[in-house]
Amino acid sequence: MKKGLLIFLFFCPIYLSWMYLPSPIPISWDEDDIIKIKSLSISQLKPLPVDPSNSFSDNEKAAIFGHMLFFDKRLSKNSQISCASCHQPSRMFTDGKKIEEGLGVGIKNTPTIIGISFSPWFYWNGRKDSQWSQALEPLESNHEHGSNRSLVAQLIFEDNTYSNLYNEIFGNSSKNTEVIFSNIGKALAAYQRKLIPGESKFDKYVNEISSSLNNEDKILSYNEKAGLNLFINKGQCINCHNGPLFTNNSFHNTGLLSIPGQLPSLGRVEGLKLARLDPFNCLGKYSNAKKEDCQELTYAGEGDEFIGAHKTPTLRNISLTSPYMHAGQLESIALVIDHYNIAPEAMIGHNEAKPLNLRPIEKKQLEAFLNTLISPLVTEKKWLLGLPKD
Ligand code: HEC
Ligand code: HEC
Repeated sequence: MKKGLLIFLFFCPIYLSWMYLPSPIPISWDEDDIIKIKSLSISQLKPLPVDPSNSFSDNEKAAIFGHMLFFDKRLSKNSQISCASCHQPSRMFTDGKKIEEGLGVGIKNTPTIIGISFSPWFYWNGRKDSQWSQALEPLESNHEHGSNRSLVAQLIFEDNTYSNLYNEIFGNSSKNTEVIFSNIGKALAAYQRKLIPGESKFDKYVNEISSSLNNEDKILSYNEKAGLNLFINKGQCINCHNGPLFTNNSFHNTGLLSIPGQLPSLGRVEGLKLARLDPFNCLGKYSNAKKEDCQELTYAGEGDEFIGAHKTPTLRNISLTSPYMHAGQLESIALVIDHYNIAPEAMIGHNEAKPLNLRPIEKKQLEAFLNTLISPLVTEKKWLLGLPKD
């Protein structure tokens, strides 16, 4: 009995320090680590990819028109909802809600749209293959703007500023509702291409590190660096959250529960089917692309691995965009990390993530690292403000 107590008293502090003290090993990056770390830096961000399906994507006037439309509540059935109601500039273009609420309550969490123009696919399940075709869906969706293409087209031609801008950009040759509707999407896309993330504390750290890395720098704390180490090594986060936007733009099943009362979302399997059926896709008649420009749509990966798979979101600004996951299932970063640590069995399909065995202190360090990814927009301020009449 006494012996048991002695053993307990001996091991207890060791156990507790194992659980909660920062690991005493100094972090030093090997060559492989440095390659991985540098690959995540915002300085690696390439110029925006051209969207061949949208000839107006880099047209400045189209961006100005799109900016007005993005904030204009008249584009909704009750004149109370705009894109910015859910994608709020002050919240890094999210809404802080578990599930979106427009005219009604939807079924998904509102993702940020900062840097989204680098993605070939849109929505959690990737059911849209261009940013302009994505922009059309909320306008007609009952729980979002609840309007329709005829009303939206009508509004453009009843408003002098809008009709002048529209004619200047697109010409006034076609009065076909679908053509006008798709041009509205193209202007909204041109505007959103301005929303680009800038340097975070993490990027400043990467700038500082030369190939002969030492630990003298003061930009990241010990725990933040330890978290970065977990992110690129033991935690395997970099397998999916990679590149300067921390996303591989692909679809994965991470074993999330569906929200009570809802069936689990089929994810990419359904998304790709819908993208191929969409009359506004890259191959459709409203697209400006040639057939050979539509490789993503034609050759998109298919198969059982995409059951329940959702698009890997960016982790830039993650600490400002709670709650998380496609249905807002997890309220905090700590819960997200717990989820990956356990890697539960998926409800449908197969969870690709593996249990991680992170100690409590390591979970805290990983979270500390994610908090260094606050990346203020490099976008000129005028693009982030609503309309004067708002
Ligand atoms: C009622 C809230 C709401 C409104 C209004 C709304 N959105 Fe969204 N937005 C969402 C939600 C929720 C999603 C994710 C839905 C999904 O994946 O099924 C989303 C997804 C997106 C995406 C894709 C992001 C990604 O990660 O792929 C873009 C881009 C976007 N919205 C732009 C817009 C534009 C442009 C408008 C206005 C025309 C708009 N949204 C109106 C809530 C909203
Ligand atoms: C197998 C690929 C994969 C791996 C590995 C992975 N993630 Fe993810 N991550 C995703 C996908 C896909 C989602 C969206 C899942 C969903 O909503 O269904 C996601 C979502 C997230 C979110 C929420 C983002 C948001 O805006 O809602 C965070 C935070 C996150 N991951 C952090 C991590 C961290 C930290 C690790 C390492 C411990 C990690 N991820 C490992 C693919 C991955």
